[in-house]
Amino acid sequence: MTADEAKRQAALQALELVRPGMTLGLGTGSTAAHFVKGLGERLKEGLVIAGAVATSEATAALARAAGVTLLEPGPETRFDLAVDGADEIDPALTLIKGGGGALLREKIVAAAAVLFDVIADAGKRVPRLGRFPLPVEVTPFAWALTARKVAEALRASGCGRDILSLRQKDGAPFVTDGGNYILDCQASEIPDAPALAALLDATPGVVEHGLFIGLAHEAIVV
Ligand code: A5P
Repeated sequence: MTADEAKRQAALQALELVRPGMTLGLGTGSTAAHFVKGLGERLKEGLVIAGAVATSEATAALARAAGVTLLEPGPETRFDLAVDGADEIDPALTLIKGGGGALLREKIVAAAAVLFDVIADAGKRVPRLGRFPLPVEVTPFAWALTARKVAEALRASGCGRDILSLRQKDGAPFVTDGGNYILDCQASEIPDAPALAALLDATPGVVEHGLFIGLAHEAIVV
């Protein structure tokens, strides 16, 4: 089975969890895209949901094309089910996310989910996080100064390496849907994700990071 077929199979299994009337959180990336397309098929077959919130402009476009009603989250919004991919999944279901640059909206949605299901191909399972470069979203203002603090956080939390690069697209810094930059942090290994997360959370200029700790309830890995 190809990795893409595994992603599709994982998405199909997650679709089984969708019930009429649900409010859904829609993730970003190639695996989440399979879920959105499959959801569109179910809607055509007569499924009725309350609506969904997309974690990126790309997913929103996909969802609209699939006939999904998109909602504006209110103060009481809870997602009955949020479904998203991941870049790495460790045995405790701690994740690295943000390879597609959508980690900020993804984390907001995951944190408001009654059930947050991660869907992935088997290549995303790792014994320990860190081989995939950890995305850290930072403000464009003084990003290089913030990058130095992020490197210090990697060292202070015992990471194997502290090599950072500013994500690029078409020869310019990649800009997120929120108007920020992404630092891709090659940590090699992250021995203490909560310690690193706490240091990053306390760093001015860091908008959000791709460590998802205690957010995923289930992983469907094919
Ligand atoms: C998007 O920002 C990411 O968090 C994705 O969920 C992650 O990169 C997984 O992407 P794929 O589903 O394309 O592998």
